[in-house]
Amino acid sequence: MKIEKLLRNNIKSFKAYSSARDEYTGKEGVFLDANENALGSVSQEKMNRYPDPYQREVKNKLAELKNVAPQNIFLGNGSDEAIDLLIRAFCEPRQEQVLTMPPTYGMYRVCADLNDVGVTEVPLSPDFKISLEAVEQSISAKTKLIFICSPNNPSGNVMATDTVERLLKSFQGLVVIDEAYQDFSREASWLKRLNDFDNLVVLQTFSKAWGMAGLRLGMAFANEKIIQVLNTIKYPYNVNAHTQEQALQVLENEKLKKQMVDDILGQRAFLIKKLNTLGCVKKVFPSDANFLLVRFSQAKKVYKQLLEKQVIVRDRSGLIHCENCLRITVGTETENQKLIDALKEVEKYI
Ligand SMILES: Cc1ncc(COP(=O)(O)O)c(C=O)c1O
Repeated sequence: MKIEKLLRNNIKSFKAYSSARDEYTGKEGVFLDANENALGSVSQEKMNRYPDPYQREVKNKLAELKNVAPQNIFLGNGSDEAIDLLIRAFCEPRQEQVLTMPPTYGMYRVCADLNDVGVTEVPLSPDFKISLEAVEQSISAKTKLIFICSPNNPSGNVMATDTVERLLKSFQGLVVIDEAYQDFSREASWLKRLNDFDNLVVLQTFSKAWGMAGLRLGMAFANEKIIQVLNTIKYPYNVNAHTQEQALQVLENEKLKKQMVDDILGQRAFLIKKLNTLGCVKKVFPSDANFLLVRFSQAKKVYKQLLEKQVIVRDRSGLIHCENCLRITVGTETENQKLIDALKEVEKYI
């Protein structure tokens, strides 16, 4: 596949901003090139220097951990940045399209709308599987990206490997697999297939299993040419120095991440069991994520009454195939017990 051919016209000849720190990558020196404050920072944390625009140290560490080459990694201000940049790089506004499969993560559409790029929506089946034939029929020469969210938000399920593989093989554009919740899944990541498909982009994030949502750090893994494009069009210092430092620290402690994932999976099992005993619950959908999609008899009422009890969940009942559904994030043991207690109260009145 020719990545250059897929690119939006203005990106083919786009010249990136050349930042001061592009030219000298050493750590030692007299840095009089970037108009920083050489005296120090007002804050205790020393933040007077611009960060590495390409986050080399973080990428080197991630490369080891994920068993991919550093040049196959893009880091952004959340994976949301990668979603936006992919659309911006590959889709000609008002002419080309992305394909999404609702119900799914809302930012694919938001970023497409913002970039004035069309969205072809091919709904998942009522049990949240990819409607392969419908997807294949909806693909046109103008379709540049297909977003597959797996495990999917809000349904929580993983998309079938053979279906995804068929799309990767047949589609002439990029297949973006959003694995924000992959750490909570029984299925393997698509990362290990990166070298098999040069049109595969895998998105992951520090916001979920790593517990670093406040830091804003997302990852895109892809063929080197795609990563180069993202690096060319991103803001020069898109990942701040604090985030890079923290990322380096947390990457030393994958053990703790794994422990937290195990705890969350235990709590997910607890919630599934308890929710299934409640009369107001019609169905708990199977989940490979850190949340559950739950169908209630009267979701809106349950949602409002939970809010009154300061238990905040996400009302997803307006989405296709999600009638009467709330999305509930797995919390701590205490929080989950509070949720169940609150639901027991709520169901007395509905
Ligand atoms: C499927 C999916 N992708 C991406 C994100 C955003 O990740 P980040 O915090 O890295 O921008 C979310 C956040 O909820 C999500 O559900």
